[in-house]
Amino acid sequence: MENAGTYIARVCNPSTCVIISDSNVFPLYGNILADALKSSGYQVYTFVFSAGETSKNAKTYIEILEFLASKKITRSDLLIALGGGVVGDITGFAAATYLRGIPYVQIPTTLLAMVDSSVGGKTAIDLQAGKNLVGAFYQPKVVLCDLRALDSLSPAVFQDGCAEVIKYGMLYDPILFDHLAEHNVNFSREYVIARCVELKADVVCHDEFDRGERQKLNLGHTIGHGIESASSYRISHGQAVAAGMAIITKAACSIGECDFTVYQLLCRVLEHFCLPCSTDYSSDTLFESALSDKKRSGKTVNLIIPREVGNCIIMPTPINRVHSIIEAGL
Ligand SMILES: NC(=O)c1ccc[n+]([C@@H]2O[C@H](COP(=O)([O-])OP(=O)(O)OC[C@H]3O[C@@H](n4cnc5c(N)ncnc54)[C@H](O)[C@@H]3O)[C@@H](O)[C@H]2O)c1
Ligand SMILES: [Zn+2]
Repeated sequence: MENAGTYIARVCNPSTCVIISDSNVFPLYGNILADALKSSGYQVYTFVFSAGETSKNAKTYIEILEFLASKKITRSDLLIALGGGVVGDITGFAAATYLRGIPYVQIPTTLLAMVDSSVGGKTAIDLQAGKNLVGAFYQPKVVLCDLRALDSLSPAVFQDGCAEVIKYGMLYDPILFDHLAEHNVNFSREYVIARCVELKADVVCHDEFDRGERQKLNLGHTIGHGIESASSYRISHGQAVAAGMAIITKAACSIGECDFTVYQLLCRVLEHFCLPCSTDYSSDTLFESALSDKKRSGKTVNLIIPREVGNCIIMPTPINRVHSIIEAGL
């Protein structure tokens, strides 16, 4: 964080930086960052909004744009997202659209934002009709992770990010998975975060616009979104994705794609992270939610099916088969 100005100078040369952050993160790290930027010679403005997903909406988005316009921010200036995925997503979308696009930088402060949302250039805001329904693909100039920011995270928010980290192990990397199985929440943050970023960056480089390989990152998410929305978002994203991964892995075993020992191993790791392996919702409820998933294309849903740790496939599945697959995973 203290060296942000130096890193930024390597990728662009703004005269003014606008730090966009939320009401939890800015009091913790805002001044450290602002001082670092000022001492590198940048003029600094800050825009802080109320923390939480409910702020990731059109109202906050317009307020950010009006703020930028009132400060006469131009395309040679820079936005800096300082916070979790909510700050990153809305700042990225503001950057993508203000003056038809100005540069931005991500400084993620949650585990989820470090390993997932800050990498890959997906930006978005929510509509009343659903999450992330308006957005753009727009890459940041650089992503800076300061691991010390994780020290102030609540255990629940940290745990949510752990579900995504376990997902990367299941998808791509048995060595990463073994490390998590062995060390649980005391995993090496530097190794694990760097590895997850490397894996995600590699996928995005090959499929920036989510037409193929990038869809694998949805492992556990189709059923997970179902659990989240059925609970009216009382169940967190990480908890829902954890259960979604376990359910789809159990289903994969029942259709002969995967060995039951893989399911048992995954459940053991999830339990060690105090993450759930199942849900109380019925297959009917989850099926309804899976059908409203925006990734549905035509009459098939692309399910991500584990075969073994580090090896998953994209399985286009006719909608009328999805119900029985979910049922098999419960
Ligand atoms: N763009 C993408 O590719 C992508 C991928 C996954 C998720 N997302 C989005 O990310 C969002 C979820 O991100 P999130 O889990 O980081 O949520 P978040 O940004 O709401 O952060 C969670 C909570 O932690 C607080 N916080 C953040 N950093 C902190 C710190 N260092 N110390 C103390 N408190 C801190 C925040 O104020 C908030 O209350 C969702 O909106 C989701 O749609 C986007
Ligand atoms: Zn996720």
